[in-house]
Amino acid sequence: MLGIIGGSGLTQLANLDVSHREVVRTPYGEPSGPLTFGRINGHDVVFIARHGYGHTIPPHLVNYRANIHALETSGVTQIVSVASVGGIRGDLGPGALVVPHQIIDYTWGREMTFQSGGDGPVIHVDFTDPYDAEVRQLLLDVSRRIGEPVIDGAVYATTQGPRLETAAEINRMEDDGADIVGMTGMPEAGLARELELPYAALCVVANWAAGRADSRHGIKFESLEAVLQEAMVRVRRIIEGICEK
Ligand code: HPA
Repeated sequence: MLGIIGGSGLTQLANLDVSHREVVRTPYGEPSGPLTFGRINGHDVVFIARHGYGHTIPPHLVNYRANIHALETSGVTQIVSVASVGGIRGDLGPGALVVPHQIIDYTWGREMTFQSGGDGPVIHVDFTDPYDAEVRQLLLDVSRRIGEPVIDGAVYATTQGPRLETAAEINRMEDDGADIVGMTGMPEAGLARELELPYAALCVVANWAAGRADSRHGIKFESLEAVLQEAMVRVRRIIEGICEK
């Protein structure tokens, strides 16, 4: 069963034929909201809105552990995470869709592991390739098949938020090798790996990162919303495409 985590601009899936919603409790507290169960093209899907259905939970307060745990206990076997990001690399401007292949984690103070100590041996999960190769390929293949341009590969810098970055921070991230910047990539991907849940991200570039192109003098949120709305139509098409397989 496919699990979808919807980010900014994707608090529901219009194409989801909803069967029921379920409030799931986990040992890690409450997920961002009830899980929505349903079908797309006859394919079972579970959806959760990362920031809550009313988009009220900021990135640093999302209960990532509860969200991932709830999806796992609901029988999800792979996760597609949809997230909006800022573009750093020159070919990743507003409206671009990208399937990242790497992550740099700049977050701090988040609950980022299911290992709480004392309940078994310490496990160091392999995270060389943070995204699942098969789920990434599925996203890329489906996008190609339905004719939606999607860029293959980017290094996703995860920042703490909720504020946006300074221009100097973005320069530093670029020096580090980052291509896109968002606030939710971690610990989400790491937690999915701890539970051995195949996980990949489909990122929507909402704006040029701070100090880049038209963001040189600040990032305007009005234009960001419009870009996201248009891009999410394409994201929904890709999700539909996955469910046709
Ligand atoms: N920075 C961090 N997160 C983001 C951005 C950004 O510029 N745009 C959308 N999410």
